[in-house]
Amino acid sequence: MMDWTDRHCRVFHRLMTRRARLYTEMLTTGAILHGDRRRLLGFDASEHPVALQLGGSSQRDLATCAKIGEDFGYDEINLNVGCPSDRVQDGRFGACLMAEPKLVAACVDAMKRAVNIPVTVKCRIGIDKQDPEVALDALARDVVAAGADALAVHARKAWLDGLSPKENRDIPPLDYDRVYRLKAALPDLPIIINGGIGSLSEARAHLSRVDGVMLGRAAYQEPWRLLTVDPDIFGEPAPHATMKDAFEAMMPYVERELARGTRLHAITRHFVGAFHGVPGARAFRRHLAENGVKPGAGANVLRDAIALVEDRATVSVAA
Ligand SMILES: Cc1cc2nc3c(=O)[nH]c(=O)nc-3n(C[C@H](O)[C@H](O)[C@H](O)COP(=O)(O)O)c2cc1C
Repeated sequence: MMDWTDRHCRVFHRLMTRRARLYTEMLTTGAILHGDRRRLLGFDASEHPVALQLGGSSQRDLATCAKIGEDFGYDEINLNVGCPSDRVQDGRFGACLMAEPKLVAACVDAMKRAVNIPVTVKCRIGIDKQDPEVALDALARDVVAAGADALAVHARKAWLDGLSPKENRDIPPLDYDRVYRLKAALPDLPIIINGGIGSLSEARAHLSRVDGVMLGRAAYQEPWRLLTVDPDIFGEPAPHATMKDAFEAMMPYVERELARGTRLHAITRHFVGAFHGVPGARAFRRHLAENGVKPGAGANVLRDAIALVEDRATVSVAA
């Protein structure tokens, strides 16, 4: 998620679930081709399985960037056909590509030819005046024909004409049934549903209709929910019984990053929702807010913040 997630966040989330697939924020082909690749694409080995999400609409550039991503070690390349920001429309990528399914398919085809890892697409159910019954089927059928390995669908339209990117994540109504109908029409295509899914019990209900569930804001704002992904979705033990245990396992990474010159706040900014509802959570947040941003703040700031929180066992799926 652009401006929210980064590799520090993914390392943190990976400590709570071994099985969930993690995605990078969207990186445009222009940024990858002309920017600091190591900074943009570098990631920690613990993050696997991790997908690189690309934004673009040039077949040649997407193929080149997909190959660069594969060479960096990513497990999947995902093409963004859902992001509604103005900046993105000007560059002719993101959600506006819902109007150009043939172009999206040509992009998928070019990326498939360039790499041996799965190539997937994330889209909306439609944009603006499109009829989602027609638009989503058209996009899905074309990308399947081009060899797409899966489709993640944010189950609402993007209204490019008039809504801000933030409004486009909340105002157009969710239509999960539209995504279920797509699965029924294309049973061989793995379909991942996304949008407004706030808990793992909701996620589990979707899994009776589609193949996967993608959590955006709930995963970021309430990361403690991820501690129950492995037991409740995959029937496997959680990597750590408590959030405090997960933080203990995070410490060597934090210390390594601080030694490389990363500022503590760049990592701890992702921890704001870690202890939601647990006694001491507010003191934890306040301690990090006041001390984590100071120049030279070290790992002891995080340790002291964690010590302010009561320890709790894994939260149940019903939470
Ligand atoms: C701050 C922010 C940044 C986002 N950036 C991206 C992005 O880079 N790529 C993408 O596919 N979706 C992005 N999204 C959309 C989410 O992935 C997701 O589709 C949307 O928030 C709906 O799912 P949710 O209700 O689970 O959050 C972003 C969302 C937010 C809130």
